[in-house]
Amino acid sequence: MRIFKYCLLLTVIVGFGAALPVNLQAQEEEETVLENAAGNQTCLNCHGRSNYFYYNENLGRELKERMNPYYIIDSAEYYRSNHKTFYCTDCHSVYYETFPHPGELRMEEKFACIDCHGGDEEYAKFNFEKIEEEYQKSVHSTKHSEDFTCWMCHNPHSYRITARSSENIKETIIYDNVICLSCHANIDKYQLLTDRINPNLLEKHEWLPNQALHFASVRCVECHAATENEILVAHNVQGKEMAVKKCVECHSANSILMGSLYKFQAKERRNKFGFFNASVLNDTYIIGANRNYYLNVVSLVFFGFVVFAVIIHGVLRFARR
Ligand code: HEC
Ligand code: HEC
Ligand code: HEC
Ligand code: HEC
Ligand code: HEC
Ligand code: HEC
Ligand code: HEC
Repeated sequence: MRIFKYCLLLTVIVGFGAALPVNLQAQEEEETVLENAAGNQTCLNCHGRSNYFYYNENLGRELKERMNPYYIIDSAEYYRSNHKTFYCTDCHSVYYETFPHPGELRMEEKFACIDCHGGDEEYAKFNFEKIEEEYQKSVHSTKHSEDFTCWMCHNPHSYRITARSSENIKETIIYDNVICLSCHANIDKYQLLTDRINPNLLEKHEWLPNQALHFASVRCVECHAATENEILVAHNVQGKEMAVKKCVECHSANSILMGSLYKFQAKERRNKFGFFNASVLNDTYIIGANRNYYLNVVSLVFFGFVVFAVIIHGVLRFARR
């Protein structure tokens, strides 16, 4: 009986001892995640939903109020974004922790992308400096220089890289087009910047056949922004008179899409196979698109067979003699 007890005790001790380090490590990780999320949760308790509560000292009770819809942050989107590891107060003043928020915070200057990313080796591949330079030339910047910032397109609470990382080109096209449409199809946001009536884009693009298919197959920037070798996504959006209107710019073997939409894939493929071509675009639309990888492989194999046959033939003839 006593032996049984000792055995039990020993098992418990050994079991606990073995589990302890694993447990501690897991607990630590969980704690940091929780700490991070908990820090933001104070803000998201109010900014993550359409109603919020606060204690009104004058009335001596808790009140429920509606959140300004423009100030609601989708936490699921936030935790998928590039800056998901951030505390809200990494970008916003810590004085936001008090409520009502102090009035002067409204005047607070926001960081620009370049403040953090400029000259940083780790982000050299994005070439922020060149993007900034290109953006400065765009209609958006030249017409509304101070008010139009990078954040207008890169929502600080949801932006994530897509063109560079996504396997799915269609998804990228939608993601990128929604950025433009968040303004060009949204009169409130558009008129933050100008008193102009938002032009109806469907009407303005009526000249394009099968508009829905085109808008799902190419990005706005393909036709509206000047490409630049050193950056992946063109940022120099030009006036409408500069926009691509000629069908052959895309529907040809030398499609401009190779230098824009398929740029990243083109680079990757070039590294892999030594060349790349318009096979991504449906070949039927493209004149002279015959540099297909698989066709090349097939013709190489045929060529190999022919050479092989000639050699065998030669050897046999030689042997017979
Ligand atoms: C008790 C609810 C509540 C909490 C908690 C709260 N906020 Fe707010 N916040 C509001 C309300 C309501 C407004 C809009 C009214 C106003 O401007 O005060 C607002 C406005 C803001 C604004 C826009 C201010 C402007 O005028 O441009 C920012 C930025 C902001 N909050 C950030 C934060 C951050 C960061 C946190 C967490 C550290 C936080 N808030 C926590 C309720 C809250
Ligand atoms: C990467 C920096 C960054 C982080 C992280 C960040 N914000 Fe913001 N936030 C901004 C910027 C920049 C603006 C101003 C956007 C603009 O002017 O278009 C802003 C605006 C806001 C606004 C005002 C609404 C608006 O669109 O003007 C609220 C509210 C807000 N942030 C709350 C939060 C909360 C809550 C968190 C954490 C969950 C958070 N922010 C995290 C940069 C950030
Ligand atoms: C307050 C400083 C700060 C600001 C402002 C800021 N970033 Fe960042 N950004 C960071 C940090 C730090 C990371 C790395 C986050 C991580 O790894 O969790 C990052 C990550 C990124 C990434 C992802 C890099 C990768 O390799 O995955 C991109 C892209 C990016 N930021 C673009 C932008 C853009 C565009 C803006 C402006 C609209 C901007 N950032 C503003 C600090 C900042
Ligand atoms: C008119 C809208 C617009 C403005 C303004 C804008 N961007 Fe972008 N930016 C985009 C779009 C669209 C993408 C493509 C997003 C994706 O699919 O990854 C992008 C992508 C990026 C990327 C990632 C590129 C890569 O190589 O993966 C960076 C970095 C960036 N922008 C920085 C900036 C900076 C810095 C500014 C301000 C100087 C700025 N952007 C202003 C629309 C804009
Ligand atoms: C934050 C709002 C906003 C976003 C986001 C935005 N734009 Fe604009 N865009 C404007 C405004 C406002 C104008 C009008 C400039 C003017 O004439 O005053 C404009 C002008 C233009 C023009 C010039 C039209 C002309 O009359 O010549 C083009 C082209 C354009 N935008 C394309 C784009 C593309 C492509 C994107 C996405 C990469 C984009 N915009 C994103 C607000 C926006
Ligand atoms: C196939 C090329 C192509 C695509 C894709 C395209 N556009 Fe255009 N867009 C044009 C051309 C060409 C014009 C000039 C039309 C004219 O002047 O008759 C134009 C005109 C415009 C104008 C100016 C309207 C005006 O008259 O003030 C805006 C703004 C605009 N496009 C935004 C967008 C946005 C946003 C997207 C993506 C959803 C987009 N475009 C997709 C080619 C294109
Ligand atoms: C910015 C590049 C671009 C421009 C400019 C462009 N297209 Fe396209 N077009 C595409 C892409 C990409 C597709 C989709 C190919 C696919 O997915 O099969 C497409 C599809 C089509 C289709 C096939 C529709 C279907 O039902 O299958 C037709 C027809 C077409 N384009 C005609 C035109 C005409 C005519 C013009 C000039 C007025 C034009 N395109 C300008 C890129 C472009």
